[in-house]
Amino acid sequence: MLALPSRPNEGEDLTMAVLGCGNMGIAILSGILSSISALSGPKPLQTDPSQPAEEIPSRLPTKFIACVRRPESAKKVKKALWQHTSFVKVVQNENVAAVSRSDVVLLSCKPSHIQSILAQPGMAEAMEGKLLISIAAGVTVEHIRATLHEAAVAAAKGDVNGAGGDCDCRIVRALPNTASLIREGMTVIADSEPALPPQTNALVTWIFRRIGDVVVSLALGSLLIAAWKSYRTPLAYRMTQYLPTHQMDASTALIGSGPAFFSLVLEAAIDGAVAMGLPRAHATRMAAQSMHGTASLVLDGEHPALLRDKVSTPGGCTIGGLLVLEEGGVRGTVSRAVREAACVAAELGRGKGAGVNGTRFVGRP
Ligand SMILES: NC(=O)c1ccc[n+]([C@@H]2O[C@H](COP(=O)([O-])OP(=O)(O)OC[C@H]3O[C@@H](n4cnc5c(N)ncnc54)[C@H](OP(=O)(O)O)[C@@H]3O)[C@@H](O)[C@H]2O)c1
Repeated sequence: MLALPSRPNEGEDLTMAVLGCGNMGIAILSGILSSISALSGPKPLQTDPSQPAEEIPSRLPTKFIACVRRPESAKKVKKALWQHTSFVKVVQNENVAAVSRSDVVLLSCKPSHIQSILAQPGMAEAMEGKLLISIAAGVTVEHIRATLHEAAVAAAKGDVNGAGGDCDCRIVRALPNTASLIREGMTVIADSEPALPPQTNALVTWIFRRIGDVVVSLALGSLLIAAWKSYRTPLAYRMTQYLPTHQMDASTALIGSGPAFFSLVLEAAIDGAVAMGLPRAHATRMAAQSMHGTASLVLDGEHPALLRDKVSTPGGCTIGGLLVLEEGGVRGTVSRAVREAACVAAELGRGKGAGVNGTRFVGRP
């Protein structure tokens, strides 16, 4: 089992390569860099005692290599991270060299580019002993491992000494969502067997907490170990919630597709208000802030059903509107949309490509 790699002649800090530094890569780098700047700055005189202190991993990435293909993309990264240029090196078409010089690799290219990037000559060898974190939606750890394995076998065939043939790196799959771009994201991290060493686990969780909240999905064995550890470790560690790995597809549907589902409901509410005479800009602001406020109340511990009940005055407008939503089957439709998206995510994860949506209901009543 690989722990965080320690390289001879290197300090305690880690170097992180971002393979495919586009929108998400920039968002994650920007979150990490801002936190690192804050850590080295003056500490607040007072902290909120109700908020448990966050666990800071013993080794953090402090040097970054952002990898892209085109000059326009390199320019975009430099522009977005101009405040941190001394910590970030932007390179074009130097993926293998960047991975060789790194301890942690964030794979944040489009899923369709994974094959060409990981099969590059020398990549499997460069990945050896590294921590590889993939955020590519729908791409399983098994698929990444198989791609690296094939590349390593192909490289071994051409190796006159017969060396190589496998790639021993630790692969972690994480699924952030679109709100990560404004650090309001929700990320699910799936555990692979065997469980990550605690320091690696702490680092991965810390990285994704820079762009929002994190739920860690663990296999049952790891769940028991984590429960035992959380009993013996500070509150901050216990804040991490653990879900069984088989819930990854449902999580993908809820947090990956969820923003699209909520946007549809939001848009419908805006349209209703516009139909009743509100200017669209005002209606959009009012609806979005109402949705934001409702979500904040729920995150604060309010149960959605109680919240709904509290604003439903007998004989009032809210209960009237709610019953129209129930007559329209909104509850069943929205929950079915989540179930449908989870099924499609599972099919895609099994390698079924285009047409998964188009054929699911053919022949059904
Ligand atoms: N955006 C979201 O809301 C979201 C949410 C969850 C997960 N994800 C996942 O995050 C990943 C990235 O999404 P994104 O929206 O950030 O995509 P993006 O903005 O298109 O970024 C992809 C980056 O990969 C680079 N790239 C492509 N081929 C490369 C190569 N051979 N070598 C080095 N760099 C290369 C591209 O650079 P060039 O333009 O120069 O080719 C681009 O900078 C995807 O796998 C997606 O599934 C995204």
